[in-house]
This record gives sequence, C-alpha cells and structure tokens, in this order.
Amino acid sequence: MRASRAFGRPGGHLVSGASAVVGLQWGDEGKGKLVDLLAAEHDAVVRYNGGANAGHSVVVGGERYALHLIPSGILRRNCKAVIANGVVVDPIRLLEELSGLESRGVDTSGLVVSSRAHVVMPYHKAEDERRETLLAQALGEAGTIGTTKRGIGPCYAEKAQRSSAVRVGDLLRPKVLRQRVEAAVRFREGMGVDVPSVDQMVRDAGEAGERLRGRIDDTAYLLHGMLGEGKRVLFEGGNATLLDVDHGTFPFVTSSNCSALGIPAGSGVPGTRLTRVVGIMQAYATRVGSGPFPTELLDEVGDRIRERGREYGTTTGRPRRCGWLDLVAVRYSAMVNGATEIAMTMLDVLSGFDEIRVCTAYETAGGRTDRFCPDAEDLGHVKPVYETLPGFAEPVEGVRRLDDLPAAARGLVDRIGAFVGVPVRTVSVGPDREATIVD
Ligand code: GDP
Ligand code: IMO
Ligand code: MG
Repeated sequence: MRASRAFGRPGGHLVSGASAVVGLQWGDEGKGKLVDLLAAEHDAVVRYNGGANAGHSVVVGGERYALHLIPSGILRRNCKAVIANGVVVDPIRLLEELSGLESRGVDTSGLVVSSRAHVVMPYHKAEDERRETLLAQALGEAGTIGTTKRGIGPCYAEKAQRSSAVRVGDLLRPKVLRQRVEAAVRFREGMGVDVPSVDQMVRDAGEAGERLRGRIDDTAYLLHGMLGEGKRVLFEGGNATLLDVDHGTFPFVTSSNCSALGIPAGSGVPGTRLTRVVGIMQAYATRVGSGPFPTELLDEVGDRIRERGREYGTTTGRPRRCGWLDLVAVRYSAMVNGATEIAMTMLDVLSGFDEIRVCTAYETAGGRTDRFCPDAEDLGHVKPVYETLPGFAEPVEGVRRLDDLPAAARGLVDRIGAFVGVPVRTVSVGPDREATIVD
C-alpha cells in the first residue's frame, strides 16, 4: 500500500536502477548461467517476453536445471522470480516446472505471475504446429520458421486480436474464461486444429489458475514498489535480439520484443530505469530453426563446435546450427539494446582450434558493408568477410582472471570489445556457476 501511494503522485519515486541480461545473437548464449550468477546480487529476476520457447540452463555444483518459464533467479534464496505481463504463460507447463524444481528441493515461494500475462492454451500449440505443417507443404522445410511449437506466435496473435485472449487473471473468472475460450475455438473453425472440448480446456485452465492463485499479482506495482525501496531488479531476456519480432531477421524470428526494448512494455518498468544492460554472446554463433545465418559452417568445423559446445536445444533437443562469430551482427544487437557491457560465453569450446575466425563485414551486391541487414531477404544474400585470429591450445576452464588467459584467447576477447565498442566485463569458461571470469 505504501508503494502504491508513493507511485500515485508525481515525484514519489526514489531513484534506483535496474539491470538486464539480453542475448545478442539467435539465442542460447548462456543467459540462464549469467542470470543465476547475477541473481546473487539482485532482489528480483524478471522475465518480460517470450514463454516456454526459452530454455535457460543453470548448472550449480554439477547439478543442471533447465528453466523455460521460471526466471533463472529461482535458485537463489531471497530473490523474487517474476513473470511479468509481456510473457505468454502456459499454466500447465508452469505448474510442471514448479513441481520439478520443488521435487529437487528448490524453494519456489518467490515466484510471482502477472495477472496481465497472456495464457497459452491448447489451441495455440495446435495452431503453431498446423501452421508449420501447412508452410512446409506450401514452401518446403526452408519456408517454415522451425518454431518450438510452444504456441508462442498464436498466443501473441490472440493478444493483438484482443477479444478472444485469456490473461492469467481470467483463469480466476470462470465466466469470462469460458467466453474467451468459446470465442477462440469459434475463430479457429475450419483451421484443422485438433483440441480438447471447451469444457475440458476451461476446466484444466481454471484448475491451473486456482493452483497459481496465491502467486498472481500486479507485477508492475510490485516492481515499482521494489525499485522505490532501492531494491535491485534484474531483467532476463527470453530468446534473443536477432529473434526480436521488430529488430531480428524477420520473418525468421519469434513473436515478441526479446531485446531490452521489450522491457518497458513487457513489465511496466520504463527504459529510463535501466542503468546496466549486459549483452551476452557466445564466442562463436548458433541458431536453431530456419532463417539466414551468414557465418554458418556446414563442415567438420561446425560439427566440432556443436560437439564440443554440446549445442543441442535446451527446449526441443534439436541440433543447433553452428558457425563462426558474426561481429557485424553482435555490434548491431549491442546498438539496439544500448548494451553497457558484454558477457562472452563458451570461450572454453574454442580451445584446440588452430585458428579462429570472426566476421567483420559483409560482401553484398552493393559492395562491402559493416552494417547488419535485419531482414531475412537481404541477409540471405550476404557473404561474410572474415578476420582470422590465432587459436589457442590450452584449456581455459580453470582460468578465473583475464590476465591468466592464453594470449590468443585474451586477443579474441579484446578484439570483440574493440570491434563492438562495448567493454567485455564477463567471460564464461564453462557451464558451471563458478566457471566465470569477472573483470
Ligand atoms: P540460454 O538460452 O541463453 O540460457 O542458453 P542455454 O542454456 O539454452 O544454452 C547454453 C548452454 O551452454 C547450456 O548447456 C549451458 O549450460 C552451457 N554453457 C553456458 N556457458 C558456458 C560456457 O562458458 N562454456 C560451456 N562449455 N558451456 C556453457
Ligand atoms: P532461449 O531463451 C534459440 C527460435 C525457434 C524458431 C524461432 C521461432 O533459450 O535463447 P517460436 O517457438 O518462438 O515461435 O520459434 O525462434 N527460438 C529460439 N532459438 N533459443 C531460444 O530461446 C529461442 N526461442 C525461440 O527455434 O527458429
Ligand atoms: Mg536456450
């Protein structure tokens, strides 16, 4: 109540900052690992976009946790885990994820879900699958998006359509819930999507809502209240900048604003509150699903990166496409996110390569450029221009100070910072929480 009054009048704010971790590539940069690490010095970790399409791994003392909807701060006691309004929540999956963590002894009492987050229903997942099948029939596999089939696109589309959308708060209003579900099912007549009966879906969703009841809240007020008390809030991007529906490689993107630009709309916390934006990137590049990938390696070097980096999807298990680091893309992403620092992961994966390549420009029909082309048509026609750096043979998993890195590894870190124009402050050298160099 105190927080509501303070924020009900102009000038009632105490000034304090919020931080963010956002992926600078096509996802799977290691956001879960870094967020878990940074959560130790934050009071809340907040997901603001995407849904169960994300798969964030955290490894603590050799124990691996795969988080999809639940923020990666959940493993830290005293850290709230907030699912804000911009997330699309599959309540049944969320409950499964919660019980999976609880069965491993994790205290989940800090999880809060926005009443205004949208709900992924069975017909969203069925439609996601159906659209991909129809696209494959019409255009072949390369024409599909290669979605995670978690119902993300159809749920965000329903949100934009408004009248048939279900929000988390509606799970507790049986009459409204039924009306929305009936409308949504009617709109899908003839689409060929196979879903349970309306009665069944309303019953399942309502029951899930009841189980979540104590966790449902207005998270915008919650976060402003925390910031007003000087508490530290960390935003955790789902997916990544090059998958951002506005700033990524459209149409081969997801359906939300994954970059830091999605934070204000997805949480109700204005961008002016963000004082630290950590752009996270791998030492090479990966992509899951379709779409252009200029530095993709379809040879044994790509296979070697995939095997050494265990590059298989955390959500779908699909093998990730692998390639050299694209610094043109990373610099673009750092720009649109307003990254204040860079965290680089997977340096250990590159040890043992004779040489390491980084893409620093593209050849296009109009000549050489160092600008990114955030459009699949344009990006599909560029050829990468590489700079070749020396490799390093020494393992680096045990290194904990930048100065102790092999010279060639240090050279790569420095080249990235210089090219992107943003300092590299964190270097990850293994999946475990401890395997990290912080400058
Ligand atoms: P996210 O989606 O950005 O959270 O990333 P994922 O968890 O989907 O994928 C990253 C994978 O790399 C996970 O298996 C992590 O445990 C692992 N990982 C994170 N950082 C490092 C690192 O520095 N080195 C290695 N070898 N693996 C890492
Ligand atoms: P994290 O948070 C990697 C990709 C999918 C597909 C496209 C659209 O773990 O980094 P969607 O199901 O969202 O409609 O799929 O986006 N994609 C991801 N790729 N990591 C992710 O999340 C992703 N989230 C979506 O593979 O190409
Ligand atoms: Mg992932």
